Amino acid sequence: MNEIEQAKSLEEQALKEIEGASDLVALERIYNVYLSKKGSLAGLMSLMRNIPNEQKASFGQAVNGAKTAVASAYDTKKAALEAAVLSAKLAEEKIDISLPGASKTPGHINPYFQIIDEVTSIFLDMGYEVVEGRDVETDHYNFELLNVPKDHPSRDMQDTFYIDEELLLRTQTSAAQAHTMVERKGLTPIRMICPGKAYRRDDDDMTHSHQFAQIEGLVVDKNISIANLKATLELFAKKMFGAKREIRLRSSYFPFTEPSVEVDVSCFNCGGKGCAMCKGTGWIEILGAGMVNPKVLEMCGYDPKVWSGFAFGVGVERVAMLRYGIDDIRRFYQNDVRFLKDYLGK
Ligand code: DAH
Repeated sequence: MNEIEQAKSLEEQALKEIEGASDLVALERIYNVYLSKKGSLAGLMSLMRNIPNEQKASFGQAVNGAKTAVASAYDTKKAALEAAVLSAKLAEEKIDISLPGASKTPGHINPYFQIIDEVTSIFLDMGYEVVEGRDVETDHYNFELLNVPKDHPSRDMQDTFYIDEELLLRTQTSAAQAHTMVERKGLTPIRMICPGKAYRRDDDDMTHSHQFAQIEGLVVDKNISIANLKATLELFAKKMFGAKREIRLRSSYFPFTEPSVEVDVSCFNCGGKGCAMCKGTGWIEILGAGMVNPKVLEMCGYDPKVWSGFAFGVGVERVAMLRYGIDDIRRFYQNDVRFLKDYLGK
């Protein structure tokens, strides 16, 4: 076999193998054997030196022809094998569009935060600012400045978690009243609310929790009277519980207000006729309030001869429990999504 015949035979052999390659791995092996830089087709050129000059041209042509033919057969086969792999994959991964989709269940804001958001926006509309209080308070701000000295009996109802003699987890957001007045140095009017957590050493039961939320409100200005308090809370009750709601004030006692009142709203369940929710009375207690005690104004740097004010405190969970008919306060903190379904239908 002369060199030209060798080239021809190598070409035929390569073409046959390419034809027979069953997958891309086999094809790649054939490429390495014949077509790569060190493959046998490239190796043919080393025979050139044995070839008489007059035949060199036709040998060169034969080698190049072989390379071109094998390379093009390789390309064609490669494309065919790749197409086969792709269609096999597509057939395998076919999507069954008749299957039901994977549904996502969106969550829902916890009713506890819902109430805070609603109350906040009602008071923002009335021009109040939102003050951020602090959960860890001093005895001074939580009690003393609110007219609850160390030996005051009302401290018994507000035992809490003490960090040391002076530092404690606040028992009431009312502490934010004192902070705001002290910060403003008796100089400017105040219209603020402070939503936040409060803590008490209560036994946890259906209606008590060692941690709960309150929204405190404070207005200090010149010529503030109990009529302003009543009008403000009436507007709040109507916006929060419905336009037909009325309020009534019952006299009460808080050390930091004088006079003090408990505020009831006409029952939003029965409209005031009497039902299980209002225990037949037609009224539901929603908050405590009163005129800021002049002693508190004075201790916090506001001259009671010039300034007067009112304050109120709303229990967030209590309002949420009434609004949504929730029976157990602990449900707010258990992070059970069924709770949202049960009470909010979401
Ligand atoms: N701090 C009171 C409590 O925790 C609630 C309260 C009552 C706040 C009357 C007030 C108020 O600002 O005027 O029971």
